[in-house]
Amino acid sequence: MAILVPGGAGYIGSHTVVELLNKGKEVVIIDNFSNSKPEVLDKIKKITGKDFKFYEMDYKDREKLEKVFEENEIEAVMNFAGYKAVGESVQKPIDYYMNNITGCLVVLDVMKKYNVKKFIFSSSATVYGEPERIPLTEDCKTGGTTNPYGTTKLFIEQILKDLYASDNTWDICILRYFNPVGAHESGLIGEEPQGIPNNLMPYIVRVANGTLKELLVFGNDYNTHDGTGVRDYIHVVDLAKGHISALEKLEKEQKGLFIYNLGTGTGYSVLDMVNAFEKSTGKAVPYKIASRRAGDIATCYADPKKAKEELGWSAEKTLDDMCRDSWHYIENSL
Ligand code: WQD
Repeated sequence: MAILVPGGAGYIGSHTVVELLNKGKEVVIIDNFSNSKPEVLDKIKKITGKDFKFYEMDYKDREKLEKVFEENEIEAVMNFAGYKAVGESVQKPIDYYMNNITGCLVVLDVMKKYNVKKFIFSSSATVYGEPERIPLTEDCKTGGTTNPYGTTKLFIEQILKDLYASDNTWDICILRYFNPVGAHESGLIGEEPQGIPNNLMPYIVRVANGTLKELLVFGNDYNTHDGTGVRDYIHVVDLAKGHISALEKLEKEQKGLFIYNLGTGTGYSVLDMVNAFEKSTGKAVPYKIASRRAGDIATCYADPKKAKEELGWSAEKTLDDMCRDSWHYIENSL
């Protein structure tokens, strides 16, 4: 029985495939390389010493997807094939709704046809909108997303809840990621944003290596310990391991729809991140204070207790690991 991984060549997908293979799981990857590179597949093999099946295709292509289900015995699906750039989603809402929502619906419909009913969904802390309270627990109100990317996550969560309500033989796990950073410790796979990065850590590493001149810190007048935005940064390998724990729960337990925050439970500010990065790598990160970025909130971090209690999972890597591995990857890949 294999785990089907649409988007398995991408940032979070590739790290999760590594953990699946390390656990001895059979893996089938689907990817069209719209935001990833074919070399990643060889690198996954190099890291794990294991092989997997691969289909180069768009996960929305129903005919091809059915063939994948015909040719493989799929046990569960972990879907990483969503688009994820917040700014781009504002410019191209139809692309985002089409790829993220239509894609997910096609997958679910084909799963239903082949009676495969274990699904793990990559959601995001963005579904909480303006946090009702901090730290965020899974029962905090959702909604009020400020961009189409976030809204696709919110809508898909609702689709999954409706699906489960209609047929409780599905096993569904919704994982709400906080801020994934870092890279595999081998330095072989990591995050590769196209163009100028929007997210903080990819920007910091490019300032540190001289590709970008300076970091713009978006606002220092928030109600936080140093005025800059506070987030829950989580190492991508910890995040990947969270998916393994979720899969194990769905394999072992009774039917259900489960929602978990995947975060560390600790918030760091933008300046904390700059300082930690400089300390960890010895590289300078020049920065300038700029005005707030539209749509940003002051503080966002998880209460990770539910995942710890019910999945037996918690993040283990430190902020130093996150900085070192992000830097190691960029040094290795340029
Ligand atoms: C973090 C902090 C910025 C860049 C987004 C999505 C979310 C998720 C992760 C995406 C904030 C500050 C950033 C910069 C800065 N999904 N910052 N200068 O906004 O928390 O979350 O990414 O794939 O859904 O919304 O992450 O890394 O963009 O920002 O000062 O050049 O860093 O203002 O306080 P965010 P981020």
